[in-house]
Amino acid sequence: MAFRPRLMRTLLTAGIAASLAGLAATVAAAEAPVTRPWMNAALTPDQRADLLVKAMTQDEKFRLIRSEYGADFEGKHNKPAGSLGTAGFIPAMPRLGLPAIHETDAGQGVARPLLFGDGDTALPAGVAVAASFNPEVAFAGGAMIGREAHRMGFGVLLAGGVNLLRDPRNGRNFEYAGEDPLLAGTIVGAAIRGIQSEHVVSTVKHYAMNDLETDRNTLSANIDQTAARESDLLAFEIAIADGQPGSVMCSYNRINSVYACENDWLLNQVLKRDWKYPGFVMSDWGAVHSAAKSALAGLDQESAGERFDKEVYFDKPLREAVAKGEVPQSRIDDMVHRIVRSFFAVGAFEHPAKVATIDYAADAKVSQRAAEEGIVLLRNWQHFLPLGKDIGPVAVIGSHADVGVTTGGGSSGVKPRGGSPVTGVAPTAWPGPKVYQRSSPMQAIARRNGGKVAYASGDDIAAAAKLAAQSKVAIVFAEQWTAESFDVPTMDLPGNQDALIAAVAKANPHTIVVLQTNGPVKMTWLHKVDGVLEAWYPGANGGEAIARVLFGEVGPSGRLPMTWPKDESQLPRPTIPGAGLAAIGIPPQGQPQQDIDYNIEGADVGYRWFEKRHLEPLFAFGYGLSYTSFDYGKPVLESRDGEVSVRLRITNTGKREGVTVPQLYVAPPQGDTTKRLAGWQRVDLKPGESREVRIVADPVRLAHYDVTKHAWVRDAGRYRFELGHTSAATLMVDLSTELPAATCTLKACTPIAH
Ligand code: BGC
Repeated sequence: MAFRPRLMRTLLTAGIAASLAGLAATVAAAEAPVTRPWMNAALTPDQRADLLVKAMTQDEKFRLIRSEYGADFEGKHNKPAGSLGTAGFIPAMPRLGLPAIHETDAGQGVARPLLFGDGDTALPAGVAVAASFNPEVAFAGGAMIGREAHRMGFGVLLAGGVNLLRDPRNGRNFEYAGEDPLLAGTIVGAAIRGIQSEHVVSTVKHYAMNDLETDRNTLSANIDQTAARESDLLAFEIAIADGQPGSVMCSYNRINSVYACENDWLLNQVLKRDWKYPGFVMSDWGAVHSAAKSALAGLDQESAGERFDKEVYFDKPLREAVAKGEVPQSRIDDMVHRIVRSFFAVGAFEHPAKVATIDYAADAKVSQRAAEEGIVLLRNWQHFLPLGKDIGPVAVIGSHADVGVTTGGGSSGVKPRGGSPVTGVAPTAWPGPKVYQRSSPMQAIARRNGGKVAYASGDDIAAAAKLAAQSKVAIVFAEQWTAESFDVPTMDLPGNQDALIAAVAKANPHTIVVLQTNGPVKMTWLHKVDGVLEAWYPGANGGEAIARVLFGEVGPSGRLPMTWPKDESQLPRPTIPGAGLAAIGIPPQGQPQQDIDYNIEGADVGYRWFEKRHLEPLFAFGYGLSYTSFDYGKPVLESRDGEVSVRLRITNTGKREGVTVPQLYVAPPQGDTTKRLAGWQRVDLKPGESREVRIVADPVRLAHYDVTKHAWVRDAGRYRFELGHTSAATLMVDLSTELPAATCTLKACTPIAH
């Protein structure tokens, strides 16, 4: 939510019981005999929505175009009757057979910020799922959290974060899917499909350019329209086309001076006209600033306006605007149509959310697989890893790794099952509390090396170094906790962790660092340690996943979904004025009206920025080591029926099973010739196994966006393709082909006839 520093965790057992009673009534309403024509599942979602809109009164329509805050607020027992106690709630309309709508965050699981009950299953961070480069893992994770949401009574998951990583210091990078629009859109699209396969509406967010948290409620993200279409908006376009989310959440910030939720270009022109989006736009919590202007620009539903906006715009003010003829009645009907259509489309009427048993053990395994596939091995000096079971005494140091793994904070924070094993860590209030998932890396290591582990908290550096000196291997767990509503001012690991790692590495020549971070951090100690694993925020079974990778039960197979800069000097904006945890808590109205110039890098986000500026990162986009080795045969480029692909044979030449992720990049012949990711594949091979792989170049990556034609256009000319393990290490093979001019969609390019 926009501003909830005084929110208290006060949902009592009695409150939960009341919520469930309300839910039972809701479900009963949904199961009423099908006498209403819109309940006919043989009709299309649009036909059903038309019938329903016709049957609704104006009051019912107005009740549907705004949600209320569903939880207790400012320490009072004031949540709406019947609400389950989460971010958004719209009461049931029994006359029409409409169940109550309960909305909950977010992409890593059912986040119930105010509930401290048993908790739910946490997926690893979104960025970890992106690091798997595996849409199947994203789909499975989405389906898992969608199922849990459905079985707790939720009809909407506010999940589907796809803002691009333009800055490693953005406090919400962990909720998103990295810097590349094709990768991010594909992964998030798959997650949305997974969620909606469980009859829960998913909400792609935060639309758009909400790529920093500092001053997010007022900041104007300034960017040229073409650059926006080829970067952040492309990620949304791909995710929306693939996942078909029922809703899109417009963001807090302004874009080119106009608030996202009243931005005609963003909502009406791009989303609804160009992408033909049939679902509804809901606002972020506290992101609405007008009635008629927002309604006319394309906003369909105001979220929790009574708590977070200056007034509830989509009630009295909007009714007045309709009465005065400023907003046509047809626009109100369109809003309602879009909302109910989305629920019809996911089958929510046939399969209403209702409380049912959840198989938490099975769900934790889904989370664990995602964590295992997303962990990235960044350094493995002289192949020190994997560890053998006879490794001897291991020192586990730091980050409460004796009891749990790190998570991110803010609205997406999933309460650990069984409660956090560590409490009282600052910040204990919004956007905290800082909690840990109950999955101990230390115990998981102990289960593998005969229990020869000892723990040092790391608070006392000398004591940690002493323990390291007495051990065969020292594993330092380093963490960077970030959260919604603030950015970190630097890329430094917080506190004394750099000094701790340096001291431990000095004391023990076999030091491994396991990072649990929001994204890239500086590594002043990199060359002093034997190994570095990036585990992100690894979720419900994170400790087990980390241990399995460390001991080689599963090979490390994640790849970086972002470029890893050496330090802030390599970024488009070396500083973020006003960043830091201390900056939160300022009411939205009080935030300075800042501008941010995204035209500095435009569409050249991440690896494209590094290429253009001839910068060498610490690790390139797409980088990640394996415990085995691969031979890439000679790639062959094929251009047939308008489709360009590369074929090659890949062989596992090592002694262990492992995954390699060949990546195809393309550089256009003219205009902006920086290369971009055009496709990839995850290839899992047993020792000695060999397979022919074909990677198809995504048509839209061969094109540029033409704002005057409202179309993706491919210029005629010779396109250069590169194949490699990362965006930087490409194979030295000349792959290029002549292509005719064409117009392209996300699916295909059609040559332009002359
Ligand atoms: C966040 C959204 C979230 C909403 C509801 C806002 O502060 O930006 O991502 O879905 O709160 O909790």
